[in-house]
Amino acid sequence: MEQVTVRTLKRKKREGKKITMISTYDFLSAKYCEETGIDCLLVGDSLGMVFQGNDTTLPVTLDEIIYHTKAVRKGAPTRFLIVDMPFMSYQPSLEEGIRNCGRVLKETGAQAVKLEGGEVVADLVHKLVGYGIPVVGHVGYLPQSHHRFGGPKVVGKEEEEAEKLKRDFKVLEDAGAFMIVLESVPWRIAKEITESSSAITIGIGAGKFCDGQVLVFHDLVGLVDYAKPKFVRRYAEGAKIFKDALKMFKLDVERGDFPTEGESYGT
Ligand code: KIV
Repeated sequence: MEQVTVRTLKRKKREGKKITMISTYDFLSAKYCEETGIDCLLVGDSLGMVFQGNDTTLPVTLDEIIYHTKAVRKGAPTRFLIVDMPFMSYQPSLEEGIRNCGRVLKETGAQAVKLEGGEVVADLVHKLVGYGIPVVGHVGYLPQSHHRFGGPKVVGKEEEEAEKLKRDFKVLEDAGAFMIVLESVPWRIAKEITESSSAITIGIGAGKFCDGQVLVFHDLVGLVDYAKPKFVRRYAEGAKIFKDALKMFKLDVERGDFPTEGESYGT
């Protein structure tokens, strides 16, 4: 597989080719993404909910994200790898943000960092890009602002909210973000933004006109069977497959059918 770089992704946008991104946290799922040619992997702070079982992304730490990113990089050596900077790893000050984003690139083999927010992170984006760190922005619904929003919601339905969304996008683009995630945004606004920008747009709950789409691996393969936002398409019923396998194992052990002689070592 050829190494995916910023140039590969920009070329795809120019040529009108769609970009695929998966948010995931471990070696094996990353390996499957590598083997199937997914363009980008994001080590999302959604791991706080999907992997750690928390209610929000807020508890995730920088050390945890770095740990998971190292595993993902081993599974997917040639995919474009993005690290979601956790809550409070870049907000306290420009200096702390630069230091932590730099640390992530130094220690993990990732190629870009993702920051949530528009105008409020623009100075940091500008500095990071200046220091050679590719930045992915994230506007619309912001999971790290869960308590301000009061939980997941569509952002941009009201005129004023839509204008702010477009302003935030433009500020990020001007600051040098080469790619921007649009989360839970009406598709008409996502389309308008995508068509008028040179930054790559990646949608999650933002309709089909974005330059690319991202889903969380565990949602896509149906391992998460207790929640299904409108924008998730399940391509497999992973939870059912795994639970059926566990039930069969339990039954076989309890009946004395596992292991057989062929599954045991002789003397
Ligand atoms: O944390 C995450 O997985 C994300 C994507 C779903 C965009 O931010």
